[in-house]
Amino acid sequence: MDDRVSPRKAAIAARVFDDGLLAEEAPLIGVIDTDALYSTINNLRASFPNFFTHAFAAKANTMPAVLDMIRRWGMACEVASPGEYQAAVQAGFTGGEIVFDSPAKTNWEIDAALSHGATLNIDNFQELARVDGWLAKKSSRSIIGLRINPQVGGGAIAAMSTATLSSKFGIGLEDGDNRQRLFDAYAARPWLTALHTHVGSQGCPLDLIAAGIAKTFNLAREINTRLGRKQITTVDIGGGLPVNFASEEVTPTFADYVAVLRQAVPDLFAGEFRIITEFGRAVLAKAGFILARVEYTKEQGGHPIAITHAGAQVATRTVFMPEMWKLRVSALDARGRPKSGAKIAQDVAGPCCFAGDVVAHARPLPLLEPGDFVMLHDTAAYYFSTPFVYNSLPAIPVYGISGADGALEVTELQKGGTLSF
Ligand SMILES: Cc1ncc(COP(=O)(O)O)c(C=O)c1O
Repeated sequence: MDDRVSPRKAAIAARVFDDGLLAEEAPLIGVIDTDALYSTINNLRASFPNFFTHAFAAKANTMPAVLDMIRRWGMACEVASPGEYQAAVQAGFTGGEIVFDSPAKTNWEIDAALSHGATLNIDNFQELARVDGWLAKKSSRSIIGLRINPQVGGGAIAAMSTATLSSKFGIGLEDGDNRQRLFDAYAARPWLTALHTHVGSQGCPLDLIAAGIAKTFNLAREINTRLGRKQITTVDIGGGLPVNFASEEVTPTFADYVAVLRQAVPDLFAGEFRIITEFGRAVLAKAGFILARVEYTKEQGGHPIAITHAGAQVATRTVFMPEMWKLRVSALDARGRPKSGAKIAQDVAGPCCFAGDVVAHARPLPLLEPGDFVMLHDTAAYYFSTPFVYNSLPAIPVYGISGADGALEVTELQKGGTLSF
């Protein structure tokens, strides 16, 4: 793990420290370099042809200010729960800009989505029957499709792999007579005009994702051919581009992904279908980091431990699955400047009241002391934006930073929780 702090991040950390944002009562903050986010979104758009619609996966970061920025910068929004749906609406996304993907949609959620004209990816045949019932009474502008599980297998992290044989998502393409059932479903419903898949997220190799997309694309074509009409007009290929958590390097890039897709599914780029993508982590993770104060340090059994304010509440996956979700951690001194010195293996622990609340185990870093800070890199998606409400720890304040290193502008993106006793 590369713990070097880039000049940009060093400038940002120094600025938020000098502005007093890391105060006694604010020992933990999140930071998003909004210029970096903006350029990632532009890079995403430039890497794919214009007829692709990119919907940001709101589960990666549902903060209202972030969703608002992402909307203004031209992305649509994929939501997977009623809470995310509400956040998208409040951030100003119109129904036609929302893609709704939950596997557990209730009747009223289906009603809301179809009434708003959101794109609806139906997860299973039972949900399809509910949508039949709704459409028997009313009409909708929604683009409606079925999610399939192409059953191409899993990646390195089982919990992130949604295209295994027995995944809970979508309709298993290779199970029983599902292919025929899918065909019959489209044949009987001219309003089913889309097909969706999401093979998985972090840990899924690009060729696995591409294989799942190829099966979905071919199925869309096969259904249209058998029907003798171009009924399916939209293919939603999901998100899942993995992020490099080991260094500053952005790899794989959107361009790398496009190259793999061009190889595996060349016709995806032919303009035959409107294509939707649903990236989350790759859009945002590397644009942000956490800064947390070291409150105390100790040695237990000859093992140095730094107790900081960043633990499971902001780095949930890393704490519970440390081997799968290693984060880069850097040591900063008590003035928020990168710390130098001999590296000593030490645990970087959080404030939560359970023993496993450790964000980095035996990590070689300059020895941390009380009053120092740690930087947890690449944490703007699925980390401080998706807190775990354990020990009633307060919401983390989040700041957006933009501008040149010498003239940074700081805005508050999310207020921290306040406490009074
Ligand atoms: C249906 C769906 N789409 C998109 C995503 C976003 O994935 P990622 O953040 O890896 O791009 C997920 C992640 O769980 C998902 O389940």
